[in-house]
Amino acid sequence: MCGIFAYLNYQVPRTRKEIFETLVKGLQRLEYRGYDSAGIAVDGPDKTSTDITSNTICLIKKTGKVKALDEELYKKDTLDLDAELFTHFGIAHTRWATHGEPSAVNSHPHRSDKENEFVVIHNGIITNYKELKAYLINKGYEFESETDTEVIPKLIKYVYDNRESDNLSFSKLVERVIQQLEGAFALVFKSRHFPSEAVCTRRGSPLLIGVRSEHELLTENISIQYNSGHSKEGVIEKNSHNRPDCSDSINSVGDGRAVEYYFASDASAIIEHTNKVLYLEDNDIAAVTGGKLSIHRMSRKAGEDPVRAIQTLQMEMQQIMKGNFDAFMQKEIFEQPESVVNTMRGRICFDSNKVVLGGLKDHLKEIKRCRRLIMIGCGTSFYATVATRQILEELTELPVMVELASDFLDRNTPVYRDDVCFFISQSGETADTLMALHYCKNRGALTVGITNTVGSSICRETDCGVHINAGPEIGVASTKAYTSQIVSLIMFCLMMSEDRLSLQNRRTEILNGLRVLPEMIKKVLTLDEKIKTIANELYQQRSLLVMGRGFNYATCLEGALKIKEITYMHSEGILAGELKHGPLALIDKDMPVIMVIMKDSCYVKCQNALQQVTARSGRPIILCCQDDHEVIKNAYKTIELPQTVDCLQGILSIIPLQLLSFHLAVLRGYDVDCPRNLAKSVTVE
Ligand code: G6P
Repeated sequence: MCGIFAYLNYQVPRTRKEIFETLVKGLQRLEYRGYDSAGIAVDGPDKTSTDITSNTICLIKKTGKVKALDEELYKKDTLDLDAELFTHFGIAHTRWATHGEPSAVNSHPHRSDKENEFVVIHNGIITNYKELKAYLINKGYEFESETDTEVIPKLIKYVYDNRESDNLSFSKLVERVIQQLEGAFALVFKSRHFPSEAVCTRRGSPLLIGVRSEHELLTENISIQYNSGHSKEGVIEKNSHNRPDCSDSINSVGDGRAVEYYFASDASAIIEHTNKVLYLEDNDIAAVTGGKLSIHRMSRKAGEDPVRAIQTLQMEMQQIMKGNFDAFMQKEIFEQPESVVNTMRGRICFDSNKVVLGGLKDHLKEIKRCRRLIMIGCGTSFYATVATRQILEELTELPVMVELASDFLDRNTPVYRDDVCFFISQSGETADTLMALHYCKNRGALTVGITNTVGSSICRETDCGVHINAGPEIGVASTKAYTSQIVSLIMFCLMMSEDRLSLQNRRTEILNGLRVLPEMIKKVLTLDEKIKTIANELYQQRSLLVMGRGFNYATCLEGALKIKEITYMHSEGILAGELKHGPLALIDKDMPVIMVIMKDSCYVKCQNALQQVTARSGRPIILCCQDDHEVIKNAYKTIELPQTVDCLQGILSIIPLQLLSFHLAVLRGYDVDCPRNLAKSVTVE
């Protein structure tokens, strides 16, 4: 996931070297989020006078680690490292590729033009960037990257070039830009035209500002200025010297004395400098002019708080790195309400029931004509295909094969030109999946990638595909990628069935389920404490069976995989329909059994399996629907989940098992994020 860090020193002498060090350290604090390239923008060498035209901005960008960027900074012999800059604003960014592969040109800061008049760093996704880009190209602006972000600096230059008055403030320019943007963003702007001024804003992506001052801060709160009709800012514009800086706002932060500001997407980059922070809200536009920070909004909504409080962060550095979580895996489990939204963002229109996967739409006709779908993956990614096979069959009305890549290759499986082969992979680099891709390509099949890593091999080598946009997954045991893979495949089903009249009710039901999915995930996550208690009871066991069928069979397989991966306990996912054909022999009062019994078409059959287990003195812990007393009365323990549409239930039912495996591993004393013998990305056969 991308990271934002920016630093403004006002009347605080810092050498350029010190500024570089601060920026680089800020980026290093964000490294844990995962990224593939980094960049910074600082004032250039000719900054010798206050004459605007002599200001230059120097951009330095590099793929790979922040360390590589750091080394690059010192290669710039045009920059005097010992020069003392009394007042300066520098911006820095780590990029995790979404639009366009990792490369220097695609990394941030992005610029308005070759003169770097405006430079911008961005977290999030601009969903209407294609339209904006087309408009700006038409106006003669030249683009250099493949990113969605680049429209932003171009757009601000367009607004600047076409401004009606020279008095337009930097923050007003930004306000006009964000009025045109759709999607999610946290943005920080720097400009040659507004030296040593900073403007930042957010909508949907986090952004906070740290304030450090040797003297008592003027105020603990900052009042918001609302621009409506004859805006207050308009009045200020007239009265103040060329640019409004809200200096007459008694509650702005800073009083013209020495002060430093730190802007970041994550408190981890700020905490070592100051614990005084101010979190921006959506559509806030914060500006620092003449060392003073003020916040504007377009208009005030009912019930909105007109002040932003400066908070004192109590957290320790280490805590923040994992955002209060003990392990990345735990953090990633808890990120799922947001990661599924990121997967759906810009792709589903809930008002029109339309789903558009940009990376597939040009191939949709061909896919609809195919004779079967073959879904190929390894590990968790394979289980995501098992989880969606039934709904794929139902909504595409095509035969669907699900294949483990290694076995698929071992069998020399027949593949034909009129097959469509899907390759599901979080990393996009798994060797077995990649080889299966080559195999299918050689046989003339259309190949589709479903990956979480832009620019990965699978993503590059497939004919078309979908990025699941779950954000970087650091824990070796996959969690949020699994739920996002399922959401992506379900969106594919919805896209395929859009013109099938007979399937419309079903589609609407699923879309309604997807709309409230994040809220439902949040509810499931509140069960964490209960699951921890269950883990306390189970952690000394040697074995754990997980049983279910239908839509929840994949939950059993994936749940058992999580348990074996990080707890090193023996664990097996068992199809409840197969119980009497063997696994029943394992059941007695001592064998820990988890059963998944949800209210879907397999409900009665699952209850039969439950009877078979309890009749052998088994003591099942049951994942069931809330208040399902029929099941609850036969359970040893229950974990009650909110009920959703059958094909989405697996997204909810896996979460308690992710949490359970996490707590079991912690109790058994193992490293949750780096289990023995396993790697996040398996690039060998
Ligand atoms: C490894 C990882 C698993 C993952 C599998 C497939 O085995 O440890 O967590 O599910 O690879 O990885 P992919 O990146 O292709 O989804």
